[in-house]
This record gives sequence, structure tokens and C-alpha cells, in this order.
Amino acid sequence: MATSRIVIHPNESVGRISPYLYGHFAEHLGTCIDEGVWVGEGSPIPNIGGIRRDVVEALKRIRPPVLRWPGGCFADDYHWRDGIGPRHARPRRVNIWWGEAIECNEFGTHEFIQFCRLIGAEPYICGNVGSGSPRELRDWVEYCNFPRGTTLSDERAANGSPEPFGVRYWGVGNENWGCGGHFAPEDYATEYRRFSTYLRDFAETPLYLIACGPSSNDPEWTRRFFTKLGGYRRIHGFAAHYYCGTAGTATEYTVEQWYELIQRSLLMERLIVQQRAVMDGFDPDRRIGLIVDEWGTWHPPTPGRDPRHLWQQNTLRDALVAAATLDIFNRHADKVVMANIAQTVNVLQAMILTEGERMLTTPTYHVYDMYQVHQGALSLRVAFEAEDITSSADGKEIRLPGLMGSASRRGNKFVLSVVNPHAIEAAEATIELPGARCRIDTATVLTHADLKAHNTFDAPERVRPTVTRLALEGSQVRYTFAPASVTVLEGELL
Ligand code: AHR
Repeated sequence: MATSRIVIHPNESVGRISPYLYGHFAEHLGTCIDEGVWVGEGSPIPNIGGIRRDVVEALKRIRPPVLRWPGGCFADDYHWRDGIGPRHARPRRVNIWWGEAIECNEFGTHEFIQFCRLIGAEPYICGNVGSGSPRELRDWVEYCNFPRGTTLSDERAANGSPEPFGVRYWGVGNENWGCGGHFAPEDYATEYRRFSTYLRDFAETPLYLIACGPSSNDPEWTRRFFTKLGGYRRIHGFAAHYYCGTAGTATEYTVEQWYELIQRSLLMERLIVQQRAVMDGFDPDRRIGLIVDEWGTWHPPTPGRDPRHLWQQNTLRDALVAAATLDIFNRHADKVVMANIAQTVNVLQAMILTEGERMLTTPTYHVYDMYQVHQGALSLRVAFEAEDITSSADGKEIRLPGLMGSASRRGNKFVLSVVNPHAIEAAEATIELPGARCRIDTATVLTHADLKAHNTFDAPERVRPTVTRLALEGSQVRYTFAPASVTVLEGELL
């Protein structure tokens, strides 16, 4: 086994890691909101005003900085007035995107804000462009943010919230190249200008407006959107989506498929590099933030579950995908300002799965827990030198780095996160800090002998991190990364 090198430059910062890179996304889809978050006040499941207490407690532990809602595709068919006022009187609608489920609208704007407050996240509301109007979206902003004295702000007060919600993040539509209206980029740019003109900054809440970016890495959408947008400046963020998909199923895959999916998740880096290059051409001062407000794995339907509800298990492989992706975001901290994994509970690459009154946290949750130390720290320039891993997918050779990760510092506190994707081999590495010294005190490691390991309601702790105390010190230290693992090393710069 050749020794790898990880070279960290503690005085060369890429930028501050926006805490929002560790953001989440919850849609009215399957059992994400209903059952997963919302059970109603009369439920035997312990709740806080109808919101599951166990889910709140678990999410609070990973410090979710921001939560995007109500969709997804659902957003462009959602009319916010359906979700305010007495719950029993709210209309019932068909959820046209997700299995024609009947949406009872019990979880609306007030409930969402309450959920955000309980878990400590900032709200990010995605507005309806596809089937809505500028007037409808402008009124939602007024309802949420105007202090008092207008019919809409007084209505909010009468509905139980005299203080404004102060919602800063607003998406102007979702996937407007697809379920958000099938617009051409030029047409969406025109709509974007029209809608955003009427979304105003009230009192203490300057808005951060987010335009819909491409599906996966489509530089053409970006180029054509910004060309048509011209010099229009009321845009703060631009949001791409990237799902790395699947290889095999959520819980059944070969070693080749293990590598294939992890390798596909690494294409996030190409997306960021190419998108930021196009954006730089239109926005040389880098005023507009790049956002990835949906990302994650997307496995085939789980047998026995409604395929339209996108419920999937979450294994050690999903954890490595999450860690490798968060490391990519950290390394691009100078451009990527927010990212929202899809989705929080019971849908796609979830943090949490629920079944009746039972709840479990997934391997992906544990990565978010381990990586929260990066939130708000300075991302450091770091180079990984490790032999590539070769494998095959669809009869073609694929390669992925033998080790990957990111490093950050906050004052003298220092964090290095590392993914060893090798299915069976440990990776010995020297961690070098040219011109500096460090002490590494702890290693938190998430791994398992079984590549398909996951948590179930009967064995909810099968995959969980272990913490080991270390006493490594010097300008060069050695550490052996377990096979198929995510490791977070924490210590101090001396
Ligand atoms: O996250 C599930 C769906 O994926 C979202 O509703 C949509 O935006 C995307 O295509």
C-alpha cells in the first residue's frame, strides 16, 4: 500500500464556508411533510403544535442552517393562501406531481415557520412561477414580512403571528425548464425579471432572490438565461440541481456499483467549475452566488412502497456520497453559497426515516453531524495525492481519487474531513502542513465492514460514527483511513 499525502496550507484560505452549504429541503411529497414532519396536534405521536418532537430533536442536533420549502415541483402548483387560516377550513387539493395524493394543507406558511424556528433553520420559500402570478408571490412576501397595518400583515397577525416572519430567501420558481413551466431560458429570464420586480425588501428583511438554474450541468441554460437577463441586477443567487442517481438499488449493489455511484457524485465538482465559469462571464464581480438547492442520490423505487413517493433506504454508500459532495462544496466556498440536500425526511437521500411513531437517523445524517464543525469556518487550500482507484461501469473503465476531502480552520481550531472510497483497503497518509504544526486530538469515523450497511427501525444504530482520542503532533503526521469510510480529524494549529 503506497502512502498517500494530504498537504494542507493553513494560511491559504479559499473563503468562508457558508453554513448554508449544509442546508436542507422538504417538499410536500410522499411522507416528507405529512407523517415525516407534520402529524397534527391530536396525534398520539409526541408533537409540538402538530410537528413531530423526535424529528425536531434529531434535526436540531445537526444545526440545519436553512430549510427550503414547499417544493420542488410542488412549489409551482402551490397557492399559499391554501395553507393559512383555520386548519379545518383549508381546501383539499390534488398533488399533481406526487401520486395525486390529497393535500390537506394543514402544514402551511405558519407551520413551516414554526418548524424552522424549532430546528433553528432560516426559512427559504420557493415561489410559484409556473402556475402563479407576480401578484400572488408579491402578496406572500408582504404577508410574511410586512410589519403591520396592511390587510395582509394584519391577516397574518389575526392568524396568530403578529411579528413578521422575516423570510429572506425566496426562490423565483423551481426547475422552470421542466415541472416549473417548461420555459426556454430566455422566457424564464423575462418571467424572472417580471416576478422579482414586485418582490420587495420590507423593514428589516432585505430579500435574497434565487433564480432557477440548470438541470444538472447544462451551461447553455445558464448562458442563455444570463444573456437575456442583460444587466438586470435584482438577482442574488442562481440555483442548479444535480442528482447523481443510482447504481444498482438503494441497498443492493456490487463493488463496481459502489464505485460507480460515488464517482458520479463527484461530477458535482465539474458542474460547479463549469457553471461558475459561465457565471463569471456575466458577473465578473461575483456578486451572484451559486446555489445547488437540490442534490443527492435517487435510487429505484423501493419494493412495497408507492413508487411516486420516492422513499428510499440510505446506506454507507449514501454517506460517502454526502461527505464527498460536502467536501466539494467546502473546496468551492468562494462561490457556492448554499446547498440543500433532497430531502429531509422519508424522501430520496433523507436525514431521517419515520414509520408510525418510530424514527431513525440515516448514515447521511451522521455525515451532516460530523461535518457541522466546518460550518462558518475558513476553507483551506488542500491537495490530496493518492493513487486513483480504477473500476468499471457499463463496460468502461472509471477512475476515482484514492482519497478526497476538505480542510478548514476557525482561529486555531482545525478540521480535516476525508473520504476513503476504497471498498476494502485502508489508506495510510501523511498529513503535511508546510511551515506549520498541528495537533490532532480526535478522529470521528463512519464506516462498516458491510458496504451495504444501513439503519433499520429494528437496528437503528447499525451505522453510526465512533470517536477515538488521538495524540498526533507535528508538521507532518500519519494517519490510516479505514476502508469505505468518512473521517473527520479535529485538532489545533500550533
Ligand atoms: O426532489 C424531488 C424532485 O426532484 C423535485 O420536486 C424536483 O424539483 C426535482 O426534479
